[in-house]
Amino acid sequence: MVKSTGFKKIKTAVFISGTGSNLKSLIKFSKLKKSPISIKLIISDNLYAKGLNFGNIFKIKKKIFNFNDRRSAEKRIISQLKKNEIKLICLAGFMKILSRYFIENFNGKILNIHPSLLPKYKGLNTHKRAILKKEKFSGCTVHFVTSKLDSGKIIIQKKVKINKNETEKSLAKKILIEEHKLYPKAIMNIFSIP
Ligand code: GRF
Repeated sequence: MVKSTGFKKIKTAVFISGTGSNLKSLIKFSKLKKSPISIKLIISDNLYAKGLNFGNIFKIKKKIFNFNDRRSAEKRIISQLKKNEIKLICLAGFMKILSRYFIENFNGKILNIHPSLLPKYKGLNTHKRAILKKEKFSGCTVHFVTSKLDSGKIIIQKKVKINKNETEKSLAKKILIEEHKLYPKAIMNIFSIP
C-alpha cells in the first residue's frame, strides 16, 4: 500500500457515475491540512453525472469515458491516471465493474464505499434487501477493491439502525450521511503513520 510521505499529499482520482455526494465530502476532506490525499482527477462513465459539477466548483480536472467498450475505456483511463501520477483511486458511486486487468494495474490502491455491512448485501439494491430481510441494522463499508465484487479487505464499517417503519429512501438517506464521514475516516486509517 502507498504510504503518505511527509507533507506530500497522495494524488488521488475519484470515480463517479451519479450524484457525487461522496465525491464532495472527499474533496472537502482533501482540503484539510491533516488530509493525506489531494484529489487531482474525477473520472466518470456518465456524461450527465450530477457530481461532475463538483469538478467545476472545485476546479478539478474531469474526464468522461464511454464504457460500451470497457477494455478501450480502461486503457484510456489507465493512461490518464499515469499521466496525472495518480497513486490512489476512490470509487464513489461508480456503477461500472472494473476488469481484473484494470484492478491488477492498481493493485491495493483502489478503495470503494458500499452501502451495506459487507459481506452482507453485495451488489445493488442493498437497502431494499436489508429491509425485506427484516434486518435490525444496516450500514456502510469502505473496502479495498479486488476483482471479486464487493469482497476485498474491509477497512472500516459503520452500523446504522433500521427503524420499524423504515423505507428504502429513509435508510439510504441515513446511511449516506454516515458514508460521508466514513470514507475520510478510512483514508485517515490507511495512511496514518503508527
Ligand atoms: C452511495 O450510497 C455509495 O455507497 C454507493 O452509491 C451511492 C453513491 O452516492 N456505491 P453519491 O453519488 O456519492 O451521492
